Amino acid sequence: MRLGLLASGRGSNVEAILEAVRDGRLDAQPVVLVCDRWSAPVLEIAQRFHLPVVLLARSAFQTRAAHQEAIRDALQQDRVELVALAGFAAILDAVVVEAFEGRILNIHPSLLPAFAGMMAPEPQAAALRAGVTLTGCTVHLVTTEVDAGPIVAQSTVPVLPDDSVETLSARILAEEHRLYPEVLQWFAEGRVCIAVAGQIHVAEG
Ligand code: GRF
Repeated sequence: MRLGLLASGRGSNVEAILEAVRDGRLDAQPVVLVCDRWSAPVLEIAQRFHLPVVLLARSAFQTRAAHQEAIRDALQQDRVELVALAGFAAILDAVVVEAFEGRILNIHPSLLPAFAGMMAPEPQAAALRAGVTLTGCTVHLVTTEVDAGPIVAQSTVPVLPDDSVETLSARILAEEHRLYPEVLQWFAEGRVCIAVAGQIHVAEG
């Protein structure tokens, strides 16, 4: 399974995925990291794992559409079969989503549909504000509606009375690092079926 990773920031999920491949827990071939930030720490992680990087800063493109097409082209050029978003700041438009329909995953630091449409650490802060006693992370398929695609897997963590955004985020992040490579392995094994409008599509991998 040729895997494309999209990330903009710290890259701890990218690192967890690359470690899972290295350790034989994930039967995938990471072929490219698409990143949209020149200063992103994830670039150093990619370098450490010898993963080729395509840097596509939004500012390098005249229009949003041109940027999105470049993202799609980069993934297609590397013959990517499954795309994993891991803290990618840009929202993907239909031009990318439709080119990889049912083959783009994202991880979100809440139990969707709760606290959707926010970037980390906002979902964690919102969970604290709401006073929920349970939160977690969600791996879902990406559609053109932000954080609203079909949920593939979730993992829960407790919210403790003395939690700060930092302590809660760290507890969730540990689950993200466990869950994301596991779900990707399900795709690699062809164990995920996606039902679309009455049809059943078996994800290839
Ligand atoms: C994670 O909290 C993830 O759930 C969200 O963005 C954050 C990315 O963190 N989508 P990292 O860059 O993987 O460390």
